[in-house]
Amino acid sequence: MVKMDDLLKPHVICVPLPAQGHINPMLRLAKLLHFNGFYITFVHTQFNFDRLMKSRGQDSLKGLSGFRFETISDGLPPANQRGILDLPALCTTLPVDGLSSLRDLIARLGDSPDVPPVTCILSDGVTGFTLKVAQEFNIPEFMLFTPSACGLLGYLNFEELQKRGYFPLKDEKNLFDGYLDTAVDWVPEMKGVRLKDLPTFFRTTDPSETMFHYNVDCVNNAVKAKGIILNTFEDLEAEVLDGIRKKYPQLYPIGPLPMLLKQFLSSNNQIDSIELNLWKEDVECLEWLNKKDPGSVVYVNFGSLVIVTPKQLSEFAWGLANSKYHFLWVIRPNLVDGGEEVISEEFLKQTRERGLFLGWCPQEKVLGHPSVGGFLTHCGWNSTLETICEGVPVMCWPFFAEQQTNCFYACDEWGIGMEIDNDVKREQVEGLVRELMGGEKGKEMRKKAMEWKHRAEVATSPGGSSYINFNNLVKQLKTSP
Ligand code: UDX
Repeated sequence: MVKMDDLLKPHVICVPLPAQGHINPMLRLAKLLHFNGFYITFVHTQFNFDRLMKSRGQDSLKGLSGFRFETISDGLPPANQRGILDLPALCTTLPVDGLSSLRDLIARLGDSPDVPPVTCILSDGVTGFTLKVAQEFNIPEFMLFTPSACGLLGYLNFEELQKRGYFPLKDEKNLFDGYLDTAVDWVPEMKGVRLKDLPTFFRTTDPSETMFHYNVDCVNNAVKAKGIILNTFEDLEAEVLDGIRKKYPQLYPIGPLPMLLKQFLSSNNQIDSIELNLWKEDVECLEWLNKKDPGSVVYVNFGSLVIVTPKQLSEFAWGLANSKYHFLWVIRPNLVDGGEEVISEEFLKQTRERGLFLGWCPQEKVLGHPSVGGFLTHCGWNSTLETICEGVPVMCWPFFAEQQTNCFYACDEWGIGMEIDNDVKREQVEGLVRELMGGEKGKEMRKKAMEWKHRAEVATSPGGSSYINFNNLVKQLKTSP
């Protein structure tokens, strides 16, 4: 049933990149806007929508009055949609098929008497094809870049890497010969950063690398948006934000979104029940955690896109086993290259009392559980912020994209992390787990993580920077012509 009140609301169309690490922050922002009086249309790709229906059922997408779901096409052939997202293929097809189906969707919504007129497109920074549709329909567009500010400033320097001859690499050997230790000394807002700390897509000898050029286009295109929204807070990335403002003066750092959401939703839990996990989470792990001592469990999770080799998995496994600590390890169904179960019987026997394996978990709740003492992470930006929100220190094994940048900042700037070598070895994992959970450095990192948690709480509370920035954003979204 159409509610008359809803028809009077400003109507925001939210278009995330169809990957979990992009859907989650967009959903959080959509919920915040809904709570602040907006009508929301949240756009999935047909593929993800079908997947959600299968894993969570029709009811999960029913939503509330004034919060609805629509679909567009991602253009990927069925054979390409195996659950592991083929980013280069997606970045080629989505701007074509996504554009034409978004255009159809907005035209259809415009003709519908059941929804209010569309007043804004809120797009992911890396789904910039939406800007064309916004122009065609004369609708203002705002963009949410889902990585860290430090990651985004890295992308903003990709063209400079090309100008200075760092992209493409001259030789494959440069990946291993120390060349990536070269200081990035031309970005004053990123002190101490080396080539290897920048987003990874420039690390190739191929001058036509899709993800390099796609990201350059995205950051340049984004200047056409009315405003750029970031899931970070001023205190955490102050200098870097100054650097970004040179390109995007209309900047709204409103994170951490999970914390800001809690501020607004504390008295309204109904909307918070909308979840868009592409994998079904195992909530029984919370029961398992309830039986453990405070701070005694290592939580291991590499997010939604990382792929590990069987050898890497085995090194992590034996490092964890030999550390003798308890662990909760999320092994996503498609985490291991080859897809086969590679955890050995011997390992399972040795860790039966101490380890729990599952395919997907309610990560925020796990990180917030008092039994969790440390997080072994790939440094995806959502995971990094979620751990900051709970004051949990990290061991970092960055995989790709701006995860390397997040790792550098977590370890060298914020003091909450220790890095594991890319060529992971069980002895190092064992040593770092012991240090993280029981050593002096671990204690220091936990203290730092709690300090950052407190600073994030200040930023998202009334009067804090993210809280103020969000209210300004709401005003802009309501008045933008
Ligand atoms: C990545 C990263 O955002 C980023 O580094 C890069 O730009 C590409 O996309 P992802 O690898 O999935 O995304 O990591 P992350 O950003 O940490 O997002 C994963 C999200 O899934 C988090 O919100 C996390 O809470 C959630 N999650 C993950 C679960 O709810 N349960 C799980 O078991 C695992």
